[in-house]
Amino acid sequence: MQQKGKRDQFGSRLGFILASAGSAVGLGNIWRFPYVTGENGGAAFVFIYLLMVFSLGFTVMLAEFTLGRNTQRNNVGALMRLGGKAWSMVGWLGIVASIIILSFYGVIGGWTIKYVVSVFQGLPTGADAAAQAGQAFEGFITHSPSVIFYQALFMVATIWVVSKGIGQGIERFCKVLMPALFLIMVVLVVRSLTLDGAMAGISFYLKPDFSKVTGGMCLAAMGQAFFSLSLGNGGMLTYGSYLKKEEPLPSSAFQICILDSLVAFLSGLIIFPAVFAFGFEPASGAGLSFVTLPAVFSQMFGGVFWAGLFFLLLVIASLTSSVNMLEVVCAHFIDEKGWSRRKAPWAIGFGIFLLGVPSAISLAGGLKVYGKSFLDTMDFIASNLMMPLGGLFILLFTGWVIADIAKREVTNEGNVSFALLPVWQVACKVVAPLAVGYIFFQGLAW
Ligand code: ALA
Repeated sequence: MQQKGKRDQFGSRLGFILASAGSAVGLGNIWRFPYVTGENGGAAFVFIYLLMVFSLGFTVMLAEFTLGRNTQRNNVGALMRLGGKAWSMVGWLGIVASIIILSFYGVIGGWTIKYVVSVFQGLPTGADAAAQAGQAFEGFITHSPSVIFYQALFMVATIWVVSKGIGQGIERFCKVLMPALFLIMVVLVVRSLTLDGAMAGISFYLKPDFSKVTGGMCLAAMGQAFFSLSLGNGGMLTYGSYLKKEEPLPSSAFQICILDSLVAFLSGLIIFPAVFAFGFEPASGAGLSFVTLPAVFSQMFGGVFWAGLFFLLLVIASLTSSVNMLEVVCAHFIDEKGWSRRKAPWAIGFGIFLLGVPSAISLAGGLKVYGKSFLDTMDFIASNLMMPLGGLFILLFTGWVIADIAKREVTNEGNVSFALLPVWQVACKVVAPLAVGYIFFQGLAW
């Protein structure tokens, strides 16, 4: 189908890097990375995770940028143009995955807004602060109207940014907020590192004990890298499609991998020293940020201020990711169906909000699918099945079907030198698909 009018583009390379890093950096880095690290014993997991980001993650990201930039199309359009109808199904897989992820991501994004509000209403105090924080968290997530209200706020914010368009909305939004996020994180790292007893947390986080490495830990690290870099659902492909032809792809992908792992690394540097300084349990699971930290902050001088900054940071990071997921879906309807940039985000975003309502309600204990909550089921289907499957097909397509086109695109028709080109091509063809395939089949275990 013909494109109507001139397509949006990122106005600058910095805008693109910040927007793509914004898509990658989210709850996955700041909320999920620390708790998965805590559950997997600390430093050795961090080391393996970083290895995964710069091997597998980089390979898939570069493949997505290549496909997007070469075609200047959305997820479905890109694969349709280069591979025909059968391959365009991979694009649809990404679109459906983005819809499902955003449906529950909006719910958790809503928690982050709720926490910014709650912090300023007061933090738990006294010897049982952790228990109070746990009760407050339970009280909130089991009160469905509140959860849905904050989910709606988060979705409206996401829709508003996307409706402003690539140049006007996403790029400007990320240009301001990403540097702000780094700044807030650095302040929090300094505060956390200067707490009495912080060193035990540093040692847990940075002193690896490789005797603890297990196959399960490697899988967890690989899965975390995949989710955190927003790969396999077409997010990076879509942003790549708005990138100008003269920009270098390999260095852009590399810089985004660095920024994404830096944010994850910094969030660990905030959380672990604080958790250890106050005697909390690093392996306490998904509640690490939402349950333990308010209690930790409550025992810090100026705790309300630090907690407010931290949860504001979570809101920012979640929004820059949710904006990308909605953009993946909207780009298709704008490019292929001629929907307007103003209409598409509101219509699609409202539908995704409705799809997220069962996830929000399931937090109260009902709505189970085979014993899992509806939210966990959505997460499992999108993160463990659809994203790895999408990434696997994108690698195979890049490596086997469009190898020559990819070679020309990734080097800007020979104008950009990319020393690792042969390694990247072999990785796309064989090594990375095997690795992703392994995660995929492991993911089938509930
Ligand atoms: N990559 C996004 C995140 O880490 C989904 O939250």
